[in-house]
Amino acid sequence: MTLRIEIDNLTKHFGEIKAVDGVSFSVNKGEVLGFLGPNGAGKSTTMKMVTGFLTPTSGTVRVCGYDVLTDPIAVKASLGYLPEGAPAYADMTPDSFLKFIADIRGLSGAAKQHAVELAADRAQIKHVMFQPIETLSKGYKRRVGLAQSILHNPPVLILDEPTDGLDPNQKHEVRTLINEMAHDKAIIISTHILEEVHALCHRNVLIANGKIKFDGTPHELEAMSRYHNAVCVSVANVDNDSLAAFLTQLDYIAELEVLPGSRGFRVYPHNAKQITAELSQSIRDNNWQIDSLHAENGRLDEVFRTITMGGNK
Ligand SMILES: Nc1ncnc2c1ncn2[C@@H]1O[C@H](COP(=O)(O)OP(=O)(O)O)[C@@H](O)[C@H]1O
Ligand SMILES: [Mg+2]
Repeated sequence: MTLRIEIDNLTKHFGEIKAVDGVSFSVNKGEVLGFLGPNGAGKSTTMKMVTGFLTPTSGTVRVCGYDVLTDPIAVKASLGYLPEGAPAYADMTPDSFLKFIADIRGLSGAAKQHAVELAADRAQIKHVMFQPIETLSKGYKRRVGLAQSILHNPPVLILDEPTDGLDPNQKHEVRTLINEMAHDKAIIISTHILEEVHALCHRNVLIANGKIKFDGTPHELEAMSRYHNAVCVSVANVDNDSLAAFLTQLDYIAELEVLPGSRGFRVYPHNAKQITAELSQSIRDNNWQIDSLHAENGRLDEVFRTITMGGNK
């Protein structure tokens, strides 16, 4: 494992506001870290400090081993950054904008031409290269921003809400591009779109009010849901009262609730244990016929709400 981003006890105060409050995490090569949290949680402020656009109140950031305070140029050379909203010069064309960025990145001649072509190809903007950016759709503007961030093929990418405001097809394309680049980069993407947790992220850090509330895999995040391993079950030709009485006396079931339309029950196991095999056996032992029986993984929206509204920690 190669550590590419190391964030230690990072803090940013704006007057009285503690926008980022003691944040620590790291990202390895090959890892896409989903930086989750509600609006105002401190995601963009953290990303601005990682990229050297904002100076921390305290704490340290290292990118590819370089300290953002003492080696800011080496840090900026090591990373690509898509700021929130993907700003670009509206009256430039993607071609002139990318060439301008290539100049800033110190590329020239054939290397510059090659970098612009490759980035335009990967971001799928080749057919709009000579059209003013202000005339492009939101999806294409975002792709121009992405092309800009990957132009110098950096080992680290910091993407602030790369799919925000895009339609489902555009979101899919941007996610595909990120997935393609994931294997040899360390990537942080901020998002509040929970479906991206599974579509993109190997790990998630969830923040609220500037503090980390969770750091783990998407599966671990889902497992925090009260619905994790809950089982929806219905049985043929048995009335709900008899079924409820039967389920209640099973020692591995902690709680049950009627499903909408009285189509069976959702049962909650003790300690969110897996019980599908045991439960189906118990029902068959009773000589009943199972209509349907399936376990839930958990619900990210519920976990997100619980954690960020002050449930855990
Ligand atoms: N330049 C600034 N001056 C004052 N407050 C700011 C500034 N930038 C961000 N904030 C505040 O810091 C908090 C975190 O903002 P931000 O990092 O943009 O959150 P997120 O990206 O998670 O939505 C918010 O309360 C926001 O209003
Ligand atoms: Mg933001």
